[in-house]
Amino acid sequence: MVGRRGEAPLCPADNWQGDCEISSHRFQYPKPSVTHLPWKDNSIMEISQLTAPLVEIAADWLVVPVTEPVEISGKLAVLDTALAGSLARLKELGDLTGKFASTVPLRGVSGLKAARVLLVGLGKAEELTAGRLDRALATATRSISDKKDVKVAFAVPDAAVGAVSSGQIAAAATAAGLTGSVGQDLYRTEKSRFPFASFQLICTSENSAAVATAVSRGRIIGEAVNLARDLVNRPPQEITPVGFATRAATVAAECGLKCEIFDQPRLEKERMKSLLAVSQGSVEPPRMVILEHCGGAPDAPKLALVGKGVTFDSGGLSLKPTDGMLTMKCDMAGAATVLGAMTAIAKLKLPVNVVGYMGLVENMPSGSAFKLGDILTARNGVTIEVLNTDAEGRLVLADVLSYAVDAGASRIIDLATLTGACVVALGEDVAGAFSNDQTWCDAVMNAAKGCGEDAWQLPMWDLYDDLIKGDVGDIKNTGGRWGGAISAAKFLQRFVSGKPWVHLDIAGPAFASSNKPHREGGGTGCFVRTLLAVAEGLKSQE
Ligand code: BES
Ligand code: MN
Ligand code: ZN
Repeated sequence: MVGRRGEAPLCPADNWQGDCEISSHRFQYPKPSVTHLPWKDNSIMEISQLTAPLVEIAADWLVVPVTEPVEISGKLAVLDTALAGSLARLKELGDLTGKFASTVPLRGVSGLKAARVLLVGLGKAEELTAGRLDRALATATRSISDKKDVKVAFAVPDAAVGAVSSGQIAAAATAAGLTGSVGQDLYRTEKSRFPFASFQLICTSENSAAVATAVSRGRIIGEAVNLARDLVNRPPQEITPVGFATRAATVAAECGLKCEIFDQPRLEKERMKSLLAVSQGSVEPPRMVILEHCGGAPDAPKLALVGKGVTFDSGGLSLKPTDGMLTMKCDMAGAATVLGAMTAIAKLKLPVNVVGYMGLVENMPSGSAFKLGDILTARNGVTIEVLNTDAEGRLVLADVLSYAVDAGASRIIDLATLTGACVVALGEDVAGAFSNDQTWCDAVMNAAKGCGEDAWQLPMWDLYDDLIKGDVGDIKNTGGRWGGAISAAKFLQRFVSGKPWVHLDIAGPAFASSNKPHREGGGTGCFVRTLLAVAEGLKSQE
C-alpha cells in the first residue's frame, strides 16, 4: 500500500524495523531514534526447589510468610532460636504482627546461612484468598528487588493456610518472584528494579511434588503477566500494529500457538472497513493477529478472546489534549492481555479450544484520517455514523467481534481500554463488566473474583439502545456523555450476533499512574489471570 511504512510481507519474517518501502516522499521520515530493546523476559531467572532446614539456606534474602497473629512455633521457632530470639522480641514489641501485606526486613542477620530475612504478613489465615496472597507476595518481592543479582529463597508453608494450599502459595510466590522484580524502566540506564538471579522454593519432602507442579504453573503465569506488562510499557513507536504482530508471532512460535496475521489487503478482503477507517490516518499499517489453541475436541465449543489493540490513541481528528494523550500507548492493553493469556493457555496445554483475536491499529489525525460524519459499513453490514474519531476502540472491536462470530466462536470475552467514562464510574482499579448473557457473565466474574481481580457489572437495559441510534446510519459511534461506558458496550453488542459475550472495560486498571507497594506503575497485566481461570473453568462447565 502506498505511503505506509513497513507494508508488504508479513509474519513471521516481517522486517518491520528495517526496510522502509516508501513509495511517496511525503511519508518519508527517519527511523525511530530509540534503539529497540530486544525483549528479554526474566524467565531465565533460575527457579528451583529444595528440601532443607531454613537455617541452612544460603541466600541474599530468605522470605518467610507469617500469619496474624504470629505464632512462633514449628519452623518459625527453629528460625527464632537460630536468630537468638529476635523474632519473639519483635513480636513482643509489636513490630512483627503478620498483618496483611506487612513486611519486616531483617538485614545482616547472624546465625543463619542467609544474609537477610524478610517476614511477610499474609493476614488472618481464615481471610486468605488467592488475590490477597498475590498482593502480599508481590509486595514482598517488590521490596527486595532494588539490587542487582539477588538470590531469593522462599519458605513454602508445610500445610495449607486457611483455604489456600501450600501448592497455591508456591505458585503465587513464583509468579510474584517474576512480576515483582520487573519494572517499567525498560529504557533507563539506571534501573530501579532487577530480576532476581535465582528463586528457590524451600519445601518439605511431603509437599515437594505439589510444589514442583506449582512452580511451573507460577512461572507460566508470571511470564504471561510480564509479557502483557512489557508490551504496554514499551513506547508506541516500537509497539506499532506491525511491531505488536511481530512479537505475537514470535511468542506464538515459542509456545506452540497457531498464528495467523491479516495485513491490510486481507483486512480489506474481509470487509473490515470499520477497523480500517480508524487506521487510515496513520502511516502505520493495521494488522489483525489470530492465535489458536486447539486443546479440545474438534467439535468442542470455541472460546474467543478479543482484544482492543490501538497501539496509540491520539484521538484522531477529535484530537485528545496532551494530558489525555499522555498514556495512550496503553490503548493496546486489551490485545496484550489476550496475548499473555493465550501463551499461558498454550503452555499449560489446557484441554479446551481458545482463539485469541487482536485488532491492531494506530489512531492518528492526518489528511487521510477518517472524519466526523463519515459513514462506515462494518463487515456485518451495520452502518456506523462517526461522530467522534476518539471513540475508535469500538470501531476496531466491531469488525473483530463479527469476524470471531463468523469463525465459529461459541463464547466471547473482549477486553478493551474503551472509555474514560468507565474510569469515572468505577475508579482506576476496577474493570467494568457488560454482558448479554448472565450465566456467562457470572462465570467470568467468578473467575475474576477467584483471582482477586476486581470487575463490577453494569446494566445493559434496552433503554440504553436509544443512545446510539443513528440519524444517517444504523448506529453512531458515541452515545453522549452520560452512561458512556454502557453506550460503548451497547455498540459492541451489535456485533456479537447474540452469542454469549462479556465485555471488560479495563481503561482504569490496565495502566497504573504510579507505584504502589504491591505493583509497579505502568502496565499491570490485569485480567491475564482471569482469562486463564475462565479457560480452565470451561472444561467443567461444558
Ligand atoms: N482509549 C480511550 C479510553 C481511555 C481513557 C482509556 C482513559 C484509558 C484511559 C478511548 O478510545 C476514548 O478515547 N474514549 C472516549 C470516548 C468518547 C469520545 C465517546 C472517552 O472515553 O473519552
Ligand atoms: Mn479514543
Ligand atoms: Zn482508545
